[in-house]
Amino acid sequence: MPAAQPTASPRQRTDRLVIAVDGPAASGKGTLARRLAAHYGLPYLDTGLLYRMVARTMLDAGEPLDDAEAAAASAAGFDDTAIDESRLRGREIGEAASVVAAIPAVRRALIDRQRRFAAASAGAVLDGRDIGTVICPDATVKLFVTATPEVRAARRHKELAGRGEAATLDGILADIRRRDARDSGRGDAPLKAAEDAVQLDTSALGVEEAFQAALAIVETRRRG
Ligand code: DC
Repeated sequence: MPAAQPTASPRQRTDRLVIAVDGPAASGKGTLARRLAAHYGLPYLDTGLLYRMVARTMLDAGEPLDDAEAAAASAAGFDDTAIDESRLRGREIGEAASVVAAIPAVRRALIDRQRRFAAASAGAVLDGRDIGTVICPDATVKLFVTATPEVRAARRHKELAGRGEAATLDGILADIRRRDARDSGRGDAPLKAAEDAVQLDTSALGVEEAFQAALAIVETRRRG
């Protein structure tokens, strides 16, 4: 009798790599996620942009941000190939995105497009607040990226200054604390580390050091 053949290619399955990168605002998760995606040749989705897009649509239409019905309709209807990032990166939009992201119907409307993205055959890198807990609970590797509020405020201050947007360091620190409280305190898919996430504190790390640390975590998890 011939030896039994495996029914599916195990190589194909084990080669798939989905990396979930979560963390609070300005923790460095976006830079890390983008670099990991480039390193592994994987598609990358910044899921914060989806919530920013919903907020942008609401603000442009003059809708109050707490109008759950209008926000859910905007989340269900927008075209994510038409995202103009330059209109989504300001300070006001980050805050507005955090408000609409607390509406459960908005989160529900955005789940499928994030999961479809993560289902790409080679895998994907996604960053956000609930990637490891809700969107991709089976991700190969989950990173939870943190840094102190003061370090994050200094980073955001530098970034905004580079974009010509004036803001005081104290004002940004207050924004960050308010956003942390709202994102972590909401009932639906709050910002929190998945139980199997590896925490990476980037407070004392430069961009390259943080990337090397993240890469080491991914490689260890992948092999383990
Ligand atoms: O990552 P960011 O700063 O661009 O996100 C903007 C807001 O969107 C953030 O304060 C909370 C919300 N968000 C979310 O609730 N879930 C995600 N997966 C990504 C972002």
